[in-house]
Amino acid sequence: MALVPKNIKSLVPYKAGRPLEDVVREFGLERVVKLASNENPWGPSPLALDAARDSLVGVHRYPDPASRKLREELIARFKVRDENVITGNGSESIMAAIMRTFLLSGDEVLSAKDTFIGFRVLANACGRTLHWVPMKEYRYDLEAMGEAINEYTKVIYIANPDNPTGSYVTVDEFDAFMTKVPPRVLVILDEAYFEFARHLPDYPDSMHYRYDNVITLRTFSKAHGLAGLRAGYGFAHHELIENLNKVRLPFEPSVPAQAAALAALHDEEHLKKTIENNTEGMRMLRAGLEGLGIRTLPSAANFLSLEFEDEKRAATLSDELQRRGVIVRYLDWFGWPTMIRVTVGLPEENEFFLETISKL
Ligand SMILES: Cc1ncc(COP(=O)(O)O)c(C=O)c1O
Repeated sequence: MALVPKNIKSLVPYKAGRPLEDVVREFGLERVVKLASNENPWGPSPLALDAARDSLVGVHRYPDPASRKLREELIARFKVRDENVITGNGSESIMAAIMRTFLLSGDEVLSAKDTFIGFRVLANACGRTLHWVPMKEYRYDLEAMGEAINEYTKVIYIANPDNPTGSYVTVDEFDAFMTKVPPRVLVILDEAYFEFARHLPDYPDSMHYRYDNVITLRTFSKAHGLAGLRAGYGFAHHELIENLNKVRLPFEPSVPAQAAALAALHDEEHLKKTIENNTEGMRMLRAGLEGLGIRTLPSAANFLSLEFEDEKRAATLSDELQRRGVIVRYLDWFGWPTMIRVTVGLPEENEFFLETISKL
């Protein structure tokens, strides 16, 4: 159809991780574990569930467009000002608003090749010139990215930690990189896995920086276990937030998402359990996989990527795991055809995965 722009025609629709029920039905399995989408295996905080449930009586009303209560909590917690905080339907929705707000015709976008697929989809859809700088040893090559900045560069995206490699940019790398970024260029620092990485001594917590041209994005989808409700937030200079607010959709996050996100912030216990489970599960998975002679990439997030000698091996293994009730993510579509990504699950889920893969 002539009316569809070329860049949209050539897009491939997003392929989400397979729903559990599909796999149960297709293979007639009794036990299926889903370790494919970096979700919280403990589920949402009970406080968040209660808050979401209680909020349902009010869903004939539109949500508060300012997410006032949620924003107040974020402001107090992260010691920022009201005008520096934005919320949205997950961090991806804020990312989409950023692309709509700041990119003019002729502007260019810069990031690492084969970084987070969600951003790549948004970038491909925006119809601008894109520069994807190859990673080095599965890590962002910020030196090369710094050199790739040109007079048209407008938006730079950094996932820290990155998905699916699990690698992160260090304080020194980030500091050196920022000296090369002119103030007219906006840096999106996507910290979706921040809660899992914050303890690392050389992880740059972007809230300790005060760059006027950096926007930090975080989410309730991962450590807080609210992926299905869609809530995310961002911090930036007040002028960036003010203009983003003019463009973003007004009624997001939804009523239950705002309520649940606020309650999740108060459930320190749940978050602590989530992080501890992740640390222990990561240790268990790495040790188990190493014991099987499978290479894993170091990860600062809640998932682990496994690297195989060839594509066929990775594809077959991913298929076979699924047939036996373990849903993992084969990363061919993400640009990593020799890799499989597995999310850290509950201890018994990790065990089931290790047991199943060892039989294969
Ligand atoms: C790096 C990264 N950013 C953002 C997201 C999406 O977050 P949200 O659910 O808040 O849109 C993901 C989810 O997988 C991710 O891996």
